[in-house]
Amino acid sequence: MGTKQGQGGRKPDGLGPLGVLSVCVLARLFLCLCVFLSISPAVTLSNSVFLFRLHVSASLSLLFSISGGRASVPTQRLARSGECQGRASRSRRPGGVKGPGGQTEPSEPRLLLRLRRIQIEGQRQRSAEMLPITEHMLHLLGLEKTAFRLYAVTGLLLALLFFLFRLLVQFLGLCWRFYITCRRLRCFPQPPRRNWLLGHLGMYLPNESGLQDENKVLESMHYVILVWLGPVLPLLVLMHPDYIKPLLGASAAVAPKDELFYGFLRPWLGDGLLLSKGDKWSRHRRLLTPAFHFDILKPYMKIFNQCTNIMHAKWRRLVEGSDVSLDMFEHISLMTLDTLQKCVFSYNSDYQEKMSDYISAIIELSALVVRRQYRLHHHLDFIYYRTADGRRFRQACDTVHHFTTEVIQERRRVLRQQGMEAWLKAKQGKTLDFIDVLLLARDEDGKEMSDEDIRAEADTFMFEGHDTTSSGLSWVFFNLAKYPEYQEKCREEIQEVMKNRELEELEWEDLTQLPFTTMCIKESLRKFPPVTMISRQCTEDVKLPDGRIIPKGIICLVSVYGTHYNPTVWPDAKVYNPYRFDPDNTEQRSPLAYMPFSAGPRNCIGQSFAMAEMRVAVALTLLRFRLSVDRTRKVRRKPELILRTEDGIWLKVEPLPPRA
Ligand code: HEM
Repeated sequence: MGTKQGQGGRKPDGLGPLGVLSVCVLARLFLCLCVFLSISPAVTLSNSVFLFRLHVSASLSLLFSISGGRASVPTQRLARSGECQGRASRSRRPGGVKGPGGQTEPSEPRLLLRLRRIQIEGQRQRSAEMLPITEHMLHLLGLEKTAFRLYAVTGLLLALLFFLFRLLVQFLGLCWRFYITCRRLRCFPQPPRRNWLLGHLGMYLPNESGLQDENKVLESMHYVILVWLGPVLPLLVLMHPDYIKPLLGASAAVAPKDELFYGFLRPWLGDGLLLSKGDKWSRHRRLLTPAFHFDILKPYMKIFNQCTNIMHAKWRRLVEGSDVSLDMFEHISLMTLDTLQKCVFSYNSDYQEKMSDYISAIIELSALVVRRQYRLHHHLDFIYYRTADGRRFRQACDTVHHFTTEVIQERRRVLRQQGMEAWLKAKQGKTLDFIDVLLLARDEDGKEMSDEDIRAEADTFMFEGHDTTSSGLSWVFFNLAKYPEYQEKCREEIQEVMKNRELEELEWEDLTQLPFTTMCIKESLRKFPPVTMISRQCTEDVKLPDGRIIPKGIICLVSVYGTHYNPTVWPDAKVYNPYRFDPDNTEQRSPLAYMPFSAGPRNCIGQSFAMAEMRVAVALTLLRFRLSVDRTRKVRRKPELILRTEDGIWLKVEPLPPRA
């Protein structure tokens, strides 16, 4: 060969020539594979074949130069083919090629070097045309004009290949898991779908006809059904107490809430009790349970009476001398908001008469969350917060958070200033509100709650406590207006309790003296449950009583509405019959047959609060007014976050003469 040992052949420290060759060839083979897989849309098949040849030959010539010019057979062949080019170019250059110092260099290595240069140059030109992505990335990385360009291209493409390979593996894994899940779900019956693509999407709309369609399904399917939201999202809907028990009875860690249905509330409610999970939830649930002890709730009776009185004064003014009807939803939701603001923050104001920014923000937030659920493109944060709704949502969240934070900080400041003992002394004989209870709460290690945690819990109470109770109460009034015989029976009961009293005010002890009124409220919560659906996503397989398994990861909807209308549980479910809740009739029923407040470890913490508030409002209302249905206005149900109506519940309220 005639090449001097060592000329242009400095070996790298770590790898021998064969190692380098293998790495280069392997890298290039990978690169070629990338090309064959059409990573870059600019690459065609013939181009990729060319690239492959180019890469192999470049590797070989690299080896040749590293190993001091001992070219292998294929390289010699390539060199010979390159010789023609060399000769042609030499013939164009008179005097041949001179080395440094004017000596003529041996022709073969010169040819090979030139061949390599031509190959690399050709490759550069080709790749500039063919691989715009890598070219752009090289440019960005500043490697475009360096000696490592070729290797950078290889590295980048390898990284891309690796990334795509991982994606492919993940995708295949997902498909496999989906296939297995579908097989496991085959044992569950499904109502007829629209088609394979939409599944049951849009079949059970959140309106009156959607609820009636649900009732039709209940006529033939009584336990658990499978529905598809589109082609890939299966949901199991449970509507029988025996099937709900394993799910709601499971620990909060096995059946946590799912993000699909609750996630939109998070920016507003933070990690409060409704949305938190795991240890945080258990710790807070333990800390907050005493806040709903009857010792704490008892003093709130004054607030319940006071807020109901404010509402009644307004009603009297509005209906004076005329036969107008009032929208119960509107009036009662202002009343429940007023009650909660007084119980949570001790905040006195005339909100029922004049709307405040804080109250309007809460009403707006509830409406915006519902609207977001029905607009699929608003599900993505980066789109939603660029829309008018998203901006209003953020603004309303800020208003609510600002209000809550200010109250907490002010209260903490006073507590620090006065010291715990003096502060507690000053509170003696006064009503402790929820913020006080949360500020005083300590866990087993004596740790208190942070301001952020207290804010989340207070916002959660305001959200969970106002809409649900106002929906519950509005439907109770609707049912009592529709069935005057039950209304009259309740009134007699209340008049009996209030007999010989000067003050029309209900005490905590009076609540147990209203058994029939309580039965009417319970039957109303059965027929019109404020929360119609509860969702969970199991972290483990859950076994149903018939041996079928709810696969881990599936979103389960516990249909409170479906259970309350299940004909195998409630005969004549569509009939409003308060005697179902006669203590003599409840024994043979499963405790999960009736669950407006959910059940199990994550049931409603505010159940006693809500029942007390509703009983006070119903008792005082029936004592002062006669309710009747406005027949000119149709009541059509609308299940949103809570069970509303399309156009309110309009009732006629006729003031009764004052008691003798
Ligand atoms: C008629 C009135 C009410 C009804 C029908 C009701 C219903 C419910 C239901 C069904 C749940 C379970 C939600 C789920 O698992 O996804 C729940 C949870 C909750 N409710 Fe109520 N609720 C009412 C009133 C209240 C009130 C007045 C408060 C507070 C002042 C309250 C605070 C809560 C909280 C904090 C949770 C979350 C509990 C947890 O996950 O540990 N609720 N409520």
